[in-house]
Amino acid sequence: MNPSAPHSNSYSRHVVMLATGGTIAGSALAVNHPQPGVYKAAQLSVQQLLVQSGIERHLIFQQWRAQGYVLEAEQVAQVDSKDMTQAIWLALAHSVQHHLQRPEVAGVVITHGTDTLEETAVFLQQVLAPAKPVVLTAAMRPSDDLWADGPQNLLDALVVASSDLRGVLAVMNGCVYAGAEVRKWHPWVVDAFGAVPAGPMARVHQGQLSVYRACTDAGVLALGLALLPPPEQPWPWVEVLASYAACSARALQCLVDTGVQGVVLSATGNGTLHECLEQTVGEYLAQGRLHLNQVLVATRCAMGGVVGQPSHGFPTAGNLTPAQARVVLMLNLMQCGDS
Ligand code: SIN
Repeated sequence: MNPSAPHSNSYSRHVVMLATGGTIAGSALAVNHPQPGVYKAAQLSVQQLLVQSGIERHLIFQQWRAQGYVLEAEQVAQVDSKDMTQAIWLALAHSVQHHLQRPEVAGVVITHGTDTLEETAVFLQQVLAPAKPVVLTAAMRPSDDLWADGPQNLLDALVVASSDLRGVLAVMNGCVYAGAEVRKWHPWVVDAFGAVPAGPMARVHQGQLSVYRACTDAGVLALGLALLPPPEQPWPWVEVLASYAACSARALQCLVDTGVQGVVLSATGNGTLHECLEQTVGEYLAQGRLHLNQVLVATRCAMGGVVGQPSHGFPTAGNLTPAQARVVLMLNLMQCGDS
């Protein structure tokens, strides 16, 4: 929000905030538990969240308004993001698309829980590949915490949603991450997010955006909303299976026997698998019980992606987390008509 650098399209001055719940809309008072740190996510409506955050009284927000920006707010869902559903994803994707098509809308902010933010980011990026900024933001502390981080994240997200950046982005703790790279890698610190392979692509400080590099998703085509099945139809059944010490292939066998449509293997190190999993997947592929497009290997390491091709030869998910790889595999299978 640099007053000397107004948005390139002076007509595009609305930013739409779509609320889905999460800790950013969470409350400790609502639980009234004697133990510190206990709270309930997704308690405040979007209007209550705006009032509680106090951002409208902040100088940066007032300067933003003085540039002609208007904030719209809409409640899309009210959920702890561990309970995210396909129905909410569908509603969110349609709502984002609807608002982005309005010429006066510069960008969209989505308030979300931190726990599955990385999955929603990949989902929206793949389906919409937006040409305007779509900014996910969240908080690690509930709205009524003395040191709540939500208000700053909200303000920073507004800055990014009013900028010339494109695509799905995530804003947390002053950092701007590309949607396909972001991941939550710590369960409770405020600085809980990172991005693989190269960290934040930009930062926000006191309303000023510093961009370090282009978004890696630039130029990737949108799969489109038409790909997504209607609400009553299930999405492809894709499970995540982990490889670990003293592993067995029994869970994999059960899944394939009961008709699983895709398997993400949460692999050790640079995409390696316990020999029992590697052997069983290889046998199923040879027997035609699984096809290569139903298997995706992602690393279970928190801070890196799979580089190169592991010797097993199964497809790999690069920098995606296993949970993100599952989203991608579901969308791939929808493209093949396997939903
Ligand atoms: C959630 O993901 O909705 C709860 C946790 C959080 O937002 O930090």
